[in-house]
Formats: sequence, C-alpha cells, structure tokens
Amino acid sequence: MEIKPGEVVADVTRFDEHIKLIVPRYEEMHDAVIRSIPPDLPEDLKILELGCGTGELTKKLCQRFPKAQITAIDYSIRMLEVAREKLSPYCGRIRWIEGDFAHTDFPSGCDVVISTLAIHHLTDPQKLELFRKIHKALKTEGWFVNGDVVLFESDRHAFLHDQVRAEHALTHGVALHTLDAETHSGSGDNLSTLKTQLALLEIAGFHSIDVIWKYYQFVVYGGFKYCLPNDHERPPLALPDF
Ligand SMILES: C[S@@+](CC[C@H](N)C(=O)[O-])C[C@H]1O[C@@H](n2cnc3c(N)ncnc32)[C@H](O)[C@@H]1O
Repeated sequence: MEIKPGEVVADVTRFDEHIKLIVPRYEEMHDAVIRSIPPDLPEDLKILELGCGTGELTKKLCQRFPKAQITAIDYSIRMLEVAREKLSPYCGRIRWIEGDFAHTDFPSGCDVVISTLAIHHLTDPQKLELFRKIHKALKTEGWFVNGDVVLFESDRHAFLHDQVRAEHALTHGVALHTLDAETHSGSGDNLSTLKTQLALLEIAGFHSIDVIWKYYQFVVYGGFKYCLPNDHERPPLALPDF
C-alpha cells in the first residue's frame, strides 16, 4: 500500500500514538499554535486547517473555540476517516475536504489559517505559492500560523535533531532506529530553514511575522495579513555606526 507523505504509519489508526514518539513536545507545539490566535478575533472564528491528519489539532480547536467553524483539508482519505470518527461530536462545525492543499481552492474570509507538521512536504516555490493563497484567503485582521519542522542554518547542528529525537524516544522506552524502521517519518520531506520560510512569508505579503515557539528543529511561526493602524510594527534594526 502506498503511504502518503505525512501519514507516518501504514496503520493510520496508530498515528496518534506514533506521532507523539516521533515529535518531541508535540502537544506543546499544538498548544503554541492555538495560543497564538489573537483574542481580539471574533468568537465565531472561521478557521481553515491544512493537513488535519487524524484531527488531533482540530479537536483542540473545537474545544478551545466552541463557536468556531472549521474547514479541514487533508489528501489522505484514511487519515480523514479517523478524524471524522474522532470528531463526530463536533460534526456540525467541521467541513472536511479531501484534497491536496497545494492545489485545492480555499474558502475566502478566514480569520485564521492553521497547520501543523504538513507544509514541510512542499518545496520552497510551492510553499511561496501556498503562502500567497493563504494570504488571499484571510480576512484583513487574519492570522496564519504554522507549527512545523525546519532545517538548522548549518548542517553542523544537524546532529542535535537526531540527538533530541533519540532522547525523546528513549524516555518512552523505544530506540530511535526501531522507531524509524517502523514509521515513515521523513519520507517526502522538503525541509527548509526557518529564515527561508519567514522570508517567503514576507514576499507573500504578510506583516508582523514572528516566531512564537521553537524547540530545536520544531517551530511555530506566523504572520498577519495586514498591519492594522493601531498595530505598531517594531522598526527594523538600526545598526550603530561603528
Ligand atoms: C504528520 S501529519 C500531521 C497531522 C496533524 N496536523 C497533527 O498535528 O497531528 C501530516 C498530515 O498532512 C497531510 N498532508 C501532507 N501534505 C499534504 C498536502 N499537500 N495536502 C493535503 N494534506 C497533506 C498528511 O496526509 C497528514 O495527514
């Protein structure tokens, strides 16, 4: 059976237990993306989620924002099946779309576009195209946030990623090589650096771009569609004249 990039395990009903072994601080990353949603947005948030997988983040969004309407996109029919069943209590508030978010049309007027651990499968030109599409889908006050895995600036720090993943897996009694043999994490990845992705956001037209959270190669970053008149963007760094 073909395993799509991001499905991680052949038996997707076991995705939730595996992803927590593969991604250190998975829950903390989810918490950071959710916390980054500005409280001044309307209660009946219109949220677009890209790469919802088995709906773990979707469930937390439904719980945290009881009036939100969520459109959740994923190209894996098997992951969507798990998500649909898990989120049946919230079914009136979620629209599931089976499709590739790089090629699917997005709804307009979104307050928030959110994603975790999915966009890193796109190449940089595809990421830029996606960021432009997200910018267009957002309302004026809208916020885009992505929790994902990135590259360190230097390969000389690459050892840290494996070290942190190995230590994390061991705390759950699993050796990293056993875990990697059982899973397909890393397949279809197109990792790029955080700096590159922040630059792509800027090119796509985002404002007040920031890094909300970082744990080694795992990051949460985002940007607003527009800089509002009462939002004072910090001036660019002025280097002293030595
Ligand atoms: C590692 S899972 C993460 C799922 C969820 N966001 C989470 O945090 O648990 C990545 C998900 O993104 C989906 N995905 C990856 N690239 C995609 C694309 N281009 N279009 C739609 N879904 C995609 C995969 O099918 C998978 O369900």
